[in-house]
Amino acid sequence: MTSPVTVSIADGVALVTIDNPPVNALSQAVRQGIEDAVNAIDADQNVDAAVLTCAGRTFVAGADIKEFGQPPQQPYLPDVLSTVEASRVPWVAAINGSALGGGLELAMSCHARIAAPGAKMGLPEVNLGLVPGAGGNIRLPRLVPLETAITMVTTGKPIGANDALENGLIDRIAEDDLVADARAYAADLIQSGKPTPVSERPPKETPEKEFWSDREKALAAKSRGQASPVEALQALRDGIELPVPEAAEAERDRFLRLRGSEQAAALRYMFFAERNTGRPDDMRDVEPLPLKRTGVVGGGTMGAGIATAMLLAGLRVDLAERDADAAENARDRVAGLLDGSRKRGLLSDAAYTDALSRFTAHESFEGLAECDLVIEAVFEDMAVKKDVFSELDRICRKDAVLASNTSYLDINEMARATGDPTRVLGLHFFSPAHIMKLLELVRTDDVSPKALATGFALAKTLRKIPVLSGVCDGFIGNRIMSAYRRECDFILEEGALPHEVDAAMQGYGFAMGIYAVQDMSGLDIAWATRKRRAPTRPAEERYSRIADRICELGRFGRKTGSGWYAYPEGAKSGRPDPVVEQIILEESERLGIERKQLSSDEIIDRILSTMQAEARAVLDEGIALKPSDIDVTLVNGFGFPRHRGGPMFAAGYRD
Ligand code: 3HC
Ligand code: NAI
Repeated sequence: MTSPVTVSIADGVALVTIDNPPVNALSQAVRQGIEDAVNAIDADQNVDAAVLTCAGRTFVAGADIKEFGQPPQQPYLPDVLSTVEASRVPWVAAINGSALGGGLELAMSCHARIAAPGAKMGLPEVNLGLVPGAGGNIRLPRLVPLETAITMVTTGKPIGANDALENGLIDRIAEDDLVADARAYAADLIQSGKPTPVSERPPKETPEKEFWSDREKALAAKSRGQASPVEALQALRDGIELPVPEAAEAERDRFLRLRGSEQAAALRYMFFAERNTGRPDDMRDVEPLPLKRTGVVGGGTMGAGIATAMLLAGLRVDLAERDADAAENARDRVAGLLDGSRKRGLLSDAAYTDALSRFTAHESFEGLAECDLVIEAVFEDMAVKKDVFSELDRICRKDAVLASNTSYLDINEMARATGDPTRVLGLHFFSPAHIMKLLELVRTDDVSPKALATGFALAKTLRKIPVLSGVCDGFIGNRIMSAYRRECDFILEEGALPHEVDAAMQGYGFAMGIYAVQDMSGLDIAWATRKRRAPTRPAEERYSRIADRICELGRFGRKTGSGWYAYPEGAKSGRPDPVVEQIILEESERLGIERKQLSSDEIIDRILSTMQAEARAVLDEGIALKPSDIDVTLVNGFGFPRHRGGPMFAAGYRD
């Protein structure tokens, strides 16, 4: 078998090229190839320096994650990198694309680093439940300031070439041709001599014990039960405080221990699950409609967010509202969202102006006539939606794809309001639509493969994670969420209070509990939905009246100053409210339920088993294609803790 690592020598410089598509991951063969390359170069007296580069679109993006579920195979990465560092000749890493995890560790084991202007460098191991495992905790704090090192290992966020240069992670940015500039750099080093290996340099800073314990406490509080951020901080501390050989041993032990942990298995599962939600096999060859002009109907919370997402992806957007005032408001809303992205540094002034120039808000549907795809985000009301679809059917091009962003309603019924239901599908975004990664693609009964393929293509353009769902009340996500929300209300009737349910959920790793979330998004819309469904609700179905009674008092959540919690003037979070407690106690009494204390574990067990039962129904009915799609939906759309892998993973499901 040919090695994925090749060496070619010219003018005393060995060009070592790693070619292991798609992302040059450090598989066993690559590790072996690098080790062999060092040995060959060290033995060849015609070689005075080496340049390490990668074929394809990226530098090494890390260890091969697929190998993590199996026993480690020799040669081990830390040893390979020590061999590079100990080479007789200086090695220059030429970084294109992304140098991530073991890839950045490899670059740091070289004696110098040069990067393409667009390169990104990071240690994302924390997101896989790990810590850098091949000297990253030792070499990084010897190159960059302590705060940069802490941020990189504990958040996993990569930095760009300019930041890397400013922080000392790299030495040069290529001006023209990366490999040619790296060769020139190697020639300079032949003249000036090999720089001191990074692990032999002193750490940039050596803070006191208290510094570490304070940071650890703060990080633990933020990590919601995920172990890897604190482990990464501790590994970095070892890398700074221990003698290098001991630090290397401690790092390896920590890495291997975490690699076998349940959290790492969950995060690894999520990594592949998110990359495995795309088109079903039977649609691989279907050509989507090319997307240039897109349309949105309704410029409220969701319409403005969807328009912004499409503008940020470079598309042209026409938005239709009910009248001139509403169109003006929509324009302000979109400009405000784009401005928010600009203020967060995600958009330059020029890109902001360009995005806004591709946006037009209209006061009628006529402006949508030339769009390739139109997404409606009008009020959640079937009559309004059907009118919108029949109007779109009349005005839009006959091949245009028409989509609904409805949360719960039957899109088949909307499709039947058009003359051609094959072009109608659901595109269910999550709020805020320009930020949230999840996009549920709803497959209506008659939708054509082309329309569906266009939905997948849109997800790709928007860099969102598409999950295919069938039509049902609430699709995959809201349906499961509604089921467990209902169960939480039963838990209240049986003995718990809202803050106890929320505390149990936060203890499990949710950012917020279900009641705090409801107060934040408002209770009125769900109340209206319940009232709409009341006439068809089976009489024997268990139904909690607590939420209705809270709404009857005009308590619609934060926006009205009270909901499940009270929000006194200036309060950052809700306070348990005796009024709500009274309602709950009255409801228990009315139902003849003897209240009993429920532990956090019991509450979480109830929530998980309800989610899992509904998820199994969703699978049995063919609404979701596979269990991991459900996990991707709950993690990315509903705050299910990623390090728990999703409800199906928690139930023991493995791909
Ligand atoms: N190992 C194995 N496969 C990987 C991989 C890795 N490290 N990184 C990406 N892939 C695969 C993906 O699964 C995908 O496969 P598919 O085409 O069969 O679905 C393919 O490469 C392309 O990946 P993306 O779809 O994610 O492509 P993008 O262009 O959107 O992103 C990327 C590229 C930024 C490199 C992104 O894939 C990424 O972030 N990868 C993970 C990087 C990472 O976490 N590295 C650290 C690994 S842990 C480590 O190094 C331990 C060390 O300290 C010892
Ligand atoms: P919203 O009330 O903020 O906005 C609706 C907008 O539609 C208003 O600006 C209104 O003027 C406009 N509109 C109403 N009828 C119209 C018509 N006939 N023609 C043109 N414009 C019209 O509502 P929101 O929250 O943006 O929700 C919109 C849709 O998105 C609903 O179906 C909702 O269920 C769904 N959704 C909402 C989410 C959320 O978090 N708010 C999340 C995901 C989906």
